[in-house]
Amino acid sequence: MQEAALRWMFDGIWDKSEHYAKKPKRSEKPILRAENITVKFGEIVAVDNVTVEVKQGELLAIIGPNGAGKTSLLNVISGFYKPVTGRVLFKGRDISKLPSHKRVELGLSRTFQHSQLFLGMTVLDNIIVGLFPWRKTSTLKAAFWLGAAKKWEEWAREGVEYVIDLLELHEYRYRIVGSLSPGLQKRVDLARALVQNPEVVLMDEPMAGLTREEKEDLARAIIEVHETRGTTFVMVEHDLEVVTDIADRIVVMDSGRVIAEGVPEEVVHNPRVIHAYVGG
Ligand SMILES: Nc1ncnc2c1ncn2[C@@H]1O[C@H](COP(=O)(O)OP(=O)(O)OP(=O)(O)O)[C@@H](O)[C@H]1O
Ligand SMILES: [Mg+2]
Repeated sequence: MQEAALRWMFDGIWDKSEHYAKKPKRSEKPILRAENITVKFGEIVAVDNVTVEVKQGELLAIIGPNGAGKTSLLNVISGFYKPVTGRVLFKGRDISKLPSHKRVELGLSRTFQHSQLFLGMTVLDNIIVGLFPWRKTSTLKAAFWLGAAKKWEEWAREGVEYVIDLLELHEYRYRIVGSLSPGLQKRVDLARALVQNPEVVLMDEPMAGLTREEKEDLARAIIEVHETRGTTFVMVEHDLEVVTDIADRIVVMDSGRVIAEGVPEEVVHNPRVIHAYVGG
């Protein structure tokens, strides 16, 4: 009885610990496809009929000058913006109509360009917030089922410990996030996404505002997750050095369109890309 109640209340998180051990294979199969996406803000066409496909286990970078439409595209994929045209396919399934928390439950997590962390809370609590889409209970129910709530917390903490380990956040676990350096805050943001045990992580400028050393630390963490867990990454990033270093493939956007895509060496020498960056 107790177990059935637990399953009902914490549906989805139940077998989470097993999930953390899984390592999906790299494959040519697309895991994610944003198809013919158009986003408008009044007269502004932020994204203009863009199609981007991401292969399973790939580390794809999206680059482009300011205002190119990169964040708008990520917002469509993660369910924060509704496009005027197009659809989003995740593992072959059309998820266009799903709200963002449902996409998280399916395995599509994200980090943010501008911090969405709770600056007054500890690192630990900020990471636990990442697990809330699975917490199918209200405070009232939790009060009735104290034992169950406790169990949930145990599971949650297991996942949390895993990401704290992975991102080497031990010494900061009880620190208030607002007191940490931008580099550590970005790591907490990534930890909050990774605790959701995603198959795909969308990252919006994870390196922005970081020192060189912090960038190297974060890049190492991303590579570690990518290689050991086979997690697929889509990373919007301005730092071309980081991008060419760690990305398998690059998509370049400018004025709402995709102007180039390919392996890093190809893309950075593409005259259209150079023109978009350096200007006319
Ligand atoms: N919420 C919004 N309301 C109105 N216009 C918006 C909004 N979000 C983005 N835009 C506009 O849409 C275009 C694309 O913006 P977006 O933020 O997607 O670009 P970006 O490539 O992420 O740029 P950056 O590198 O500066 O982050 C820009 O012209 C921007 O001003
Ligand atoms: Mg942006």
